[in-house]
Amino acid sequence: MNRYAQWLSFQTYRKRFIYIIWNWYGRKMKTQAAKSGEVRLDEGFKSLGYKSGIFDAARFGVFLETLPRAEPIPFRVGDVADGYYFTTAIDEGKINKANIFYRLSSPQLEPLDALLASIREELTSCLGCRWRVVNSRYWSTIAVPTAYGANNWHVDGFPNDILKLMIYPHETGGKWGTTELVLPTKENFSVSGPPGTWLLFKNSELLHRGVPPEQGGRKIVEVTIVPAKRYGLTGRFAGHNAQFPKYPWMAHS
Ligand SMILES: [Fe+2]
Repeated sequence: MNRYAQWLSFQTYRKRFIYIIWNWYGRKMKTQAAKSGEVRLDEGFKSLGYKSGIFDAARFGVFLETLPRAEPIPFRVGDVADGYYFTTAIDEGKINKANIFYRLSSPQLEPLDALLASIREELTSCLGCRWRVVNSRYWSTIAVPTAYGANNWHVDGFPNDILKLMIYPHETGGKWGTTELVLPTKENFSVSGPPGTWLLFKNSELLHRGVPPEQGGRKIVEVTIVPAKRYGLTGRFAGHNAQFPKYPWMAHS
């Protein structure tokens, strides 16, 4: 076996190992939560694979006001915090043509924490255990002639217990752009609602895509959550190409 083939097989085994660990950890956290009786499972999420809601308008307004101050930064494959899993299969030119990316920092992340705290129990009922935030990203999807990346139908391919919460700062649905899912019933579902609508979904099990608006940009905030022993609602930006920490024991920094 040449060196490249050796490296490839090492990467494949390492990926498999990372997924086995996350699946084991998720199961363990959910079993403990079920035994303690602190979690009541959301049956709708279990069968349909998504849950949506609307944040309290006043609380959401505080967060919304901070978004125009988020700094635009181009997507870079190397924009990944230490210890995070990431992909190299992204064309920076194409993804930056279809989206404008921003960096969320403390002025935005602090009010985001309050929003997450307000739906803590709802998300726990969906995931089946406590959780922590591992990344918070913000971008705007622009209508371009050829869909690229997340605007094509795809599954995220993360370990199944690592979930994405999508937050829509402006009206979503129809001409405003949205997120579209294929449900286990084979029906399509598009999220729609006023500013402050949120969607949690099984991003690695349900086929989904971002739908750009007819005009302008569809802004979206995406929060990645993972099973955890203790709640960790403090938002963080781990990089636009950061998917999830490689191992559950990697500290929240
Ligand atoms: Fe996705």
